[in-house]
Amino acid sequence: MTIEEIRNMYLKFFESKGHTIISPAPLVLENDPTTLFTSSGMQPLVPYLLGEVHPSGRRLVDSQPSIRVQDIEEVGDNRHTTFFEMLGNWSLGDYFKKEQLPWIYEFLTEELKLSKDKLYVSIFEGNDAVSRDSESYEIWKSLGVPEDHIYEYGVKKNWWSRSGTPEQMPEGEIGGPDSEIFFDFGTELKLHETSEWKNETCHPNCDCGRFLEIGNSVFIQYKKENGKLVELPQKNVDFGGGLERMAAATIQNPDVFEIKIFKDLITELEMHTQKKYEQNKASFRIIVDHIRAATFLAKAHVVPSNKLQGYVMRRLIRRAVVKARKLSDNAIDPNIFTSLVSEIVDSYPSYFEKDESEKLQGVIFDEVNKFHKTLDKGLKEAEKIKEIDGKIAFDLYQTFGFPLELSIEIFQEKGQKIDGEEFKKAFLEHQNKSRSASAGVFKGGLADHSEEVTRLHTATHLLHAALRKVLGTHVQQKGSNITNERLRFDFVHDSKVTPEQIAEIEQLVNSQIEKDLPVSFEMMTVSEADQKGALHFFDKKYEEQVKVYTVGDPDGEFFSKEVCGGPHVTSLSQLHGRVKITKEEAVSAGVRRIYATIQ
Ligand code: ALA
Repeated sequence: MTIEEIRNMYLKFFESKGHTIISPAPLVLENDPTTLFTSSGMQPLVPYLLGEVHPSGRRLVDSQPSIRVQDIEEVGDNRHTTFFEMLGNWSLGDYFKKEQLPWIYEFLTEELKLSKDKLYVSIFEGNDAVSRDSESYEIWKSLGVPEDHIYEYGVKKNWWSRSGTPEQMPEGEIGGPDSEIFFDFGTELKLHETSEWKNETCHPNCDCGRFLEIGNSVFIQYKKENGKLVELPQKNVDFGGGLERMAAATIQNPDVFEIKIFKDLITELEMHTQKKYEQNKASFRIIVDHIRAATFLAKAHVVPSNKLQGYVMRRLIRRAVVKARKLSDNAIDPNIFTSLVSEIVDSYPSYFEKDESEKLQGVIFDEVNKFHKTLDKGLKEAEKIKEIDGKIAFDLYQTFGFPLELSIEIFQEKGQKIDGEEFKKAFLEHQNKSRSASAGVFKGGLADHSEEVTRLHTATHLLHAALRKVLGTHVQQKGSNITNERLRFDFVHDSKVTPEQIAEIEQLVNSQIEKDLPVSFEMMTVSEADQKGALHFFDKKYEEQVKVYTVGDPDGEFFSKEVCGGPHVTSLSQLHGRVKITKEEAVSAGVRRIYATIQ
């Protein structure tokens, strides 16, 4: 059964039980600054679970495309994916446990025809505040689930809210005890041993890989109020089931990546890389998962950037690129990514238009290309390094986005090891430095590394670019001084800057801020920087490699490009305000000075 088929069966099944099929919410919710992505089916339904009347009634069903960012690092094993579809059905104060559990059991055993022997369930064991869920226990028993297939767990496993256990729930959050369903693949795969379950015999929640959770009925019945759980006016059911995981259960294969949608992508990847999935499972899984997620993000109009959703998308694509390069000895066939995207578009006729492929490919391929080039540059630099250590590996990470694992690999080939602890130390030191260096002067005329100074520093680049656009390209930086309150900028120009010109310069700068352009840097030689049109001091002696900061697209249209040591914000919205020129005066013959603040 394909996931399209399972999804349709599920929707139809619950429709036959009086549910209305509703459209899923967008992957990126508008006007919801609290979360980056829709990560469960209930998220868009919270007001209705709290009691508001839903226009489609009190029984709802859908399949919700979701992304769980916290799972990025887990991808590579046989079950975790960042993007997934959550099959959901809801009772908004309508039916409760005695309908929900039999229905979902019927769907799994009669419709998907999963063998009853393979199904295990769990219930809430109870605590001081909420009693044991004996009702669910009895319902499962009455359905014929043997007692040794019913497990009981505490709040960590059998309580669900978006923020975790009752203690972790913030004021106003809703949640309740839940009952999970697991499929038993019958083999202990020993994926990883967590300390939590170490030395315990295998059970549904252990991580050995034998059991896979395929569905969860949450009885959303409580709300946190004044630090306590109080009963909601209505008792709700919130069921969520992993569509891909259910598909894996139907083929009795614990590897989710063996289901058709992934299998097709993997075959495509095998063709392009001439490598086999069997020997490269983790890399294959990461590439197909991440590119599938990125394709859905592109569809949701996200573009790779340094902030919020765009940053997650960038991470996903970059991780996939690193893995793909590894499979292809650093020379990616650009068709890999485009053909994966069109395969994904074809596999989801319910979500994509046929002719949409090219546009989505473009968004993803742009980022692939950019990162590919940066990595190439970085590899050349890495070749020059005679002796690697954790600190240098961190520099490679800082400058070229080299993940530690990539450096480890490159230098392993040269017979050199990298101390991961040393890398971590350099990472932490860097973090501390950027946080705490509040006193002292460092190169480039900046008073310190504080956030205000960083913001004003980026504003200086914007003003420099705007001055040149409004007054002419004879404008050149003569000096800069930044405190926590204001910036000061001296430049070549031989007459007073008029109030009209000042207004125009401010307007130009502020309209860039409104566009929230990204700010990024690349390493290159001064002559390369020159060729790319980066501003720099002609009479200054630079290091062989310099940092070039771009506001805008480093390889396309930009507003400002300057050789500079940094630091800068990563996108203009982080300036948190508008730039205002507070004063203009003469410094000497042919040199003017402006002062500006961010308001
Ligand atoms: N909302 C529940 C979950 O995400 C069903 O597991």
